[in-house]
Amino acid sequence: MTSIVVVGSVNADLVARVPAQPEPGETVLADSMTVLAGGKGANQAVVAARLGGDVALVGAIGSDAFAAAALPGLRAAGVDLSAVATVPGPTGVALISVDDDGENTIVVVPGANAAVDADAVERHRDLVAGADVVVVQGEIPVPGSTAAARAARGRVLLNLAPVVPVPADVLALADPLVVNGGEAERLLAEADRPVSDSPLAVALELQALGPRSVVLTLGAAGAVVLEPGHDGGAPAGGTTSGPGVLGQPVVVPTPHVEAVDTTGAGDAFVGALAYRIAVGDSLVDAARVAVRVGAFSVATPGAQPSFPTAQDELPALRA
Ligand code: RIB
Repeated sequence: MTSIVVVGSVNADLVARVPAQPEPGETVLADSMTVLAGGKGANQAVVAARLGGDVALVGAIGSDAFAAAALPGLRAAGVDLSAVATVPGPTGVALISVDDDGENTIVVVPGANAAVDADAVERHRDLVAGADVVVVQGEIPVPGSTAAARAARGRVLLNLAPVVPVPADVLALADPLVVNGGEAERLLAEADRPVSDSPLAVALELQALGPRSVVLTLGAAGAVVLEPGHDGGAPAGGTTSGPGVLGQPVVVPTPHVEAVDTTGAGDAFVGALAYRIAVGDSLVDAARVAVRVGAFSVATPGAQPSFPTAQDELPALRA
């Protein structure tokens, strides 16, 4: 079986349902509060495992009561947790408010995730080096994600969520770099690159930062994929493509679903993308599945509770 190693965060999500998000300085009353397992790394690992992947997580939890809340989804999905350390102090916590439109705001207190540094990755170098796909995000210290990308011998999926300053050589290992619209804007602004209103232009600008391939996620508008050698069915006279040569950006549409809670939709996309890449899909084909997994996840509250298994029927694109 192909293997996926996620090097990333584990959180307990404290999720408040609110009628509308508070303005700065405003207090709103929530309708309810639940404690769920979360963290972008953990979420991505759960999705990849539920879909059928052989998945291990390199991460850390604390010694407090939230640690117990953070792990059940990972255990139930069969993720290998032997590289998840328990460190003294608090577990990572995410303070999440979800409004009636299903939109969320998230504040993450990293806690034990701060222990996923270069030394932690070095302790699990063989695991990381042996994976077919290594997935990293921005919720662990940059030296940790940097060490993971450099130790990888398989494909590196770099999800800059949130955007953190990774070195150029790590960006150059990304295959793909995955960001959403807001993250793309921040990444390009920090690199003094122009930010266009056109997603296709944004994807091309992201490519100019040096990754091997790019996936720009657009929520309900799907995703844009830029992959070496993929011409996206370009018309005659379009950009030449071939091995090592970038093709045309490919727009991948997503099914329309009523969004109840978008929390974790990006992680659902990334976990599914990693799984489909690991089983041999092209990046475009992997993204075609990943958008449907993301769409599935927004129809139910929470992050991990909303992720599909391989047996679930994914929403289909309407003709
Ligand atoms: O992407 C959603 C996740 O972001 C939540 O589960 C929360 O823990 C934060 O990491």
